[in-house]
Amino acid sequence: MKIIITKNYDEMSSVAADLVEKCINKKPNAILGLATGSTPIGLYKELIKRHNDNKISFKDITSVNLDEYIGLPGDHDQSYRYFMNENLFNHVDIDKTKTFVPNGKAEDLNEEAKNYEKNIDDLGGIDLQILGIGTNGHVGFNEPSSKLELYTHIEDLTESTIHANSRFFDSIDDVPTTAISMGIGSIFKAKEIILLASGENKAKIMQTLKDTLVTPLIPASFLKLHPNVTIIMDEDAASLYNQE
Ligand code: PGA
Repeated sequence: MKIIITKNYDEMSSVAADLVEKCINKKPNAILGLATGSTPIGLYKELIKRHNDNKISFKDITSVNLDEYIGLPGDHDQSYRYFMNENLFNHVDIDKTKTFVPNGKAEDLNEEAKNYEKNIDDLGGIDLQILGIGTNGHVGFNEPSSKLELYTHIEDLTESTIHANSRFFDSIDDVPTTAISMGIGSIFKAKEIILLASGENKAKIMQTLKDTLVTPLIPASFLKLHPNVTIIMDEDAASLYNQE
């Protein structure tokens, strides 16, 4: 894994945007794997800026998102479809029919998961996957567990994730308790992976990630087995990284 430590959140976002820009300019019809959460918002702002400055075009880009809450329609302001529209898609020249987010309101969720995974394969796999990391080590909604699901699947959210995400909802009771998420195997199909981490609340998990062996109890640890992963984290997230 390649590790880049940046001074702050803005620099983390800008270094990540450099890698996305490089990918898009090399392959204008690239398949981008996108993530939600507070961490990639700065990256998306930077990509919008570069789009406005005519440095990148999303015209021929296809995007595939990691996950979606079960039960929230795409127009719900906490759904990940809504998040992507608001934070990126509405501001760039991407064709929305080529932006894929799992449907958390699908009648048959297992069928939705199966089709979502097939779509990733039909697209020829993801060129560049953006990931955040949960304080419990989850990537996408692959929660710590004694076993991990390989491909897109239904996941029960852990208490710690429900608690962490409750900051976006009126009440913790409003946070969905299940999600549809790409699996570690789906993520591994990506040719290149960028994991972003920012802030002191990520310092502990980044230290743990450095020290741990590969284990389903820390789903992000599987990234150690992928040949092309870059971790970009700011100094706050890296504050425990080099301590013994
Ligand atoms: P965050 O979430 O970017 O809001 O910290 C990351 C995650 O839970 O994967």
